[in-house]
Amino acid sequence: MHVLLTAGPTYEPLDPVRFLGNRSTGKMGYALAEAFAETGAEVTLISGPVHLPAPGSPRICTVRVETAQQMYAAAAAAAPAADIWVFAAAVADYRPATVAAEKIKKADDTLTLELVKNVDIAATLGQTKRPEQFAVGFALETTNELAHALDKLHRKNFDLVVLNSLRDAGAGFGHDTNKVSVLDRAGQVLNFELQAKTELARTLVQLIQTRFATSYA
Ligand code: CTP
Repeated sequence: MHVLLTAGPTYEPLDPVRFLGNRSTGKMGYALAEAFAETGAEVTLISGPVHLPAPGSPRICTVRVETAQQMYAAAAAAAPAADIWVFAAAVADYRPATVAAEKIKKADDTLTLELVKNVDIAATLGQTKRPEQFAVGFALETTNELAHALDKLHRKNFDLVVLNSLRDAGAGFGHDTNKVSVLDRAGQVLNFELQAKTELARTLVQLIQTRFATSYA
């Protein structure tokens, strides 16, 4: 079994010293990589800039990238040979339209940045997914969570979508714990208790592998 996993944030450069980024730590993605490796799977972990050590398992090949475009290129290269795709990265939706060659100097009282849309890695690869491949996405919503997550599942051709709760203390960015619900294509919802990301990763990997095996059978 071969697994492609994206994790962490992306950094979108503005000039040689500045970037636009987000608060993703990569902990959930790295925990999933370790949990897949524990089951004997070979994992290609495509990681944005994080402060975590590269996973020690010889079954995990870590590819470090910085921008959404680099993450897309690395993911597109690994996707055709992977049985399962898991998109846990918090990809920047937009990047600065131009990257200044020199440090941008302070000038006027206001500064307007023009941003252009980044490639949607999950949606673009989703269009190439073969029937025997299985894709899992993440969603972070603040309103109409289930409806938006289900919409994302269909738009990006996911088989499962993991919905992060932002309402619960201890869940999401930066925490060592997480609380999620998982939705499938039939609209069935599985709710999980708040738990350590390492423990949740094992639970999710078991669910993903079971669903993968039954969808392929
Ligand atoms: N994703 C991706 N590439 C992007 C944006 C998102 O691969 N450029 C993936 C994420 O890794 C995640 C899923 O798509 O698995 C949903 O990400 P999210 O940011 O919630 O979705 P968006 O499409 O950005 O929707 P919105 O910002 O409108 O909520």
